[in-house]
Amino acid sequence: MTCSILVGGAWGDEGKGKCITYLCDKDKPNIIARAGVGPNAGHSVEFNGEKYGLRLTPSGFFNKDSKLLIGAGVLVDRDVFFHELEYLDKYDIKNRIQMDYRCSMIEPDHRDRDKNSKHLFKKIGSTGTGCGPANSDRVLRTAKMAKDISELENFITNVPLEINNSLENSEDVFIEGSQGFGLSLYYGTYPYVTSKDTTASTFAADVGVGPTKIDDVIIVFKSYITRVGEGPFPTELNQEIAEEKGIEEYGTVTGRRRRVGDFDMNLAKEACMINGATQIALTCVDRLYPVCERTQDYSSLSAEIKKFSTEIEDATNVPVTIISTGPDLKDTIDLRNELL
Ligand code: GTP
Ligand code: IMP
Ligand code: MG
Repeated sequence: MTCSILVGGAWGDEGKGKCITYLCDKDKPNIIARAGVGPNAGHSVEFNGEKYGLRLTPSGFFNKDSKLLIGAGVLVDRDVFFHELEYLDKYDIKNRIQMDYRCSMIEPDHRDRDKNSKHLFKKIGSTGTGCGPANSDRVLRTAKMAKDISELENFITNVPLEINNSLENSEDVFIEGSQGFGLSLYYGTYPYVTSKDTTASTFAADVGVGPTKIDDVIIVFKSYITRVGEGPFPTELNQEIAEEKGIEEYGTVTGRRRRVGDFDMNLAKEACMINGATQIALTCVDRLYPVCERTQDYSSLSAEIKKFSTEIEDATNVPVTIISTGPDLKDTIDLRNELL
């Protein structure tokens, strides 16, 4: 029995989608449960030449034997939910995806209030997906829950009960977080953050698993940092320097150009501490060091890359167990066996 949580170590878009796809393909958990804020997230998943952008469905969806759950802490937009059911039709997710009956619903009014708010949309640079207003209605105790929506009748369950029963039966559960440490309402760059905490403890609570049940917290760092929206970014590079390094990214949900910066060791140390990280997944190493593109074994990495990884381990005191050298799930170096 293993219960793992995957979290983002910076301002989101660290490549969590890719890492989740890889880990769920390798480990084949019985349950993959989505935690985090809601459809403000955009996870990218790529395998066998197919590419998907997801906002609500757990990124391990293609693993046909896994049950897919959405925790009570996650906001559900029914349009996004039904769109993804169609989009992923060939993976037959309709019969194995369910959300907790207590999930708060995002209504059209929440999206309007988000997009028309000078404070949220213009100053903070929100995604405009209605998450902030919907979470605020939950706090005010006026939000609708999934159980109030008749179209969702076939898709609701008691997520904590399913997960805890599964753990009792010695099954494996994988909890996928979204966003990243720097966007946490409490520990991030307030007020330029999202509408709730985005650390491992909150992700566990989102799906109804107590802290004593968690075995592993895998934190994902990209080899450089990106940020969409406004707010402090200590290691930010100007756009020309980022382009010289060949780094240019656009948001999955909003299409906005991402700001780019160097790896931030202070942020990494704090993120590991507050998340209680036990393992690090380091992604997009190939974008920083193109020589390692698609490399699948550690020994062929250059001394420079090995040094970078060791520096992160020494500073954070957490082992780097996954090194990602390309977007496809095959482009991965897996060092987890070395921990045993
Ligand atoms: P969020 O929930 O928004 O944080 O999503 P995410 O962390 O899954 O990241 P997102 O999909 O927004 O952005 C990461 C991008 O990098 C995607 O286009 C991935 O396909 C890509 N990617 C992930 N890992 C690697 C890698 O090791 N190398 C390269 N070249 N691309 C990668
Ligand atoms: P909101 O969550 O839509 O309210 O946006 C608040 C801030 O969080 C903005 O800076 C967004 O760009 C950022 N944000 C929210 N979700 C994500 C994500 O999944 N990836 C990257 N940035 C995000
Ligand atoms: Mg993203």
